[in-house]
Amino acid sequence: MSTDRNGSTTGFPTVRMRRLRATEAMRSLVRETQVTRNDLVYPMFVVEGKRVRREIGSMPGNYQLSVDELVAEAARAYLAGVPAVILFGIPAQKDPLGSGAYQDNGIIPRAVAALKDAMPQLIVMTDICLCEYTSHGHCGVVSEDRILNDPSLELLAHSAVAHARAGADVVAPSDMMDGRVKAIRSALDGEGYEDVPVLAYSAKFASGFYGPFREAAESTPQFGDRRSYQMDPANRREALREVLLDVQEGADMVMVKPGLPYLDLVREVRDLVDMPVAVYNVSGEFAMVKAAAANGWIDERRVVLEILTGFKRAGASFILTYHAPDAARWLAEDASHKVKVKKTVGRR
Ligand code: PBG
Repeated sequence: MSTDRNGSTTGFPTVRMRRLRATEAMRSLVRETQVTRNDLVYPMFVVEGKRVRREIGSMPGNYQLSVDELVAEAARAYLAGVPAVILFGIPAQKDPLGSGAYQDNGIIPRAVAALKDAMPQLIVMTDICLCEYTSHGHCGVVSEDRILNDPSLELLAHSAVAHARAGADVVAPSDMMDGRVKAIRSALDGEGYEDVPVLAYSAKFASGFYGPFREAAESTPQFGDRRSYQMDPANRREALREVLLDVQEGADMVMVKPGLPYLDLVREVRDLVDMPVAVYNVSGEFAMVKAAAANGWIDERRVVLEILTGFKRAGASFILTYHAPDAARWLAEDASHKVKVKKTVGRR
């Protein structure tokens, strides 16, 4: 037998992989990947009104929240150890140009200001897109059933500036128009927000896994689908090009979305660029876990922590997930495990 790269010349019975799996302490010692509470970003949905707390049917434990309730809910997550949220806004009125997306007193600027006032250290990210605000439900300006790229850029850039002005810590364009990162970066710089980073949804696929989100954000396209701007799930090289283009345009962080069916790309993007790589554990992935757990078919805690570990192992720097508050509580419990010492120790 030849020598392997660890210098071992023999296999079994000299080599026994199970030696390092015998106890939890030993497994912890040699564990290669850790998920921590610092890795979690909690996506939240904001609506107009007061004391509004409407549970999203397909996303148990997640709500459409008015600003007052959003602050309370974000505080609970923050106290559980979740360091960051990402906000999605649902305006009172939708119109063809999505004007609610870029008004200074729009739903997101008010939500951001309230969160930063209550919790200055909480990282508040905002999703930049038009689909929650447009009457047609598409992510850009529409003309004769086509989604126009260049006219959408200015609106997206305005939206980013409005969020930055309200105090957003990170802006995250999810629209998939070409050139949006560059347009947003230069608008932010032009208005004095050169310190606000851009997290680009770079490799964002046209996915069936966004179904529950569209119920939550009331953003289902009224005609057609998003395949003319979001990526074809079959394309790997194209995803890497998207990432490199966003890096060139000035993105500070890039994202792969959805998560579970695209772990190969999380790894490839991790190896391709030297910047933080986010992964979005999207609404459909969440809903499947919740539904199976509700039926008693899987152990929710175990499965969620396994999924999050998978993202980290694939190379994710942080994870956008609807499981964030639960996961934070579970991780805290795991970290405070009990140790036992014999009673006689320490007696003099
Ligand atoms: C907006 C946006 C979507 C998601 C995040 N930002 C929906 C979509 O593109 O249709 C999906 C998130 C999720 O499913 O959890 N463009």
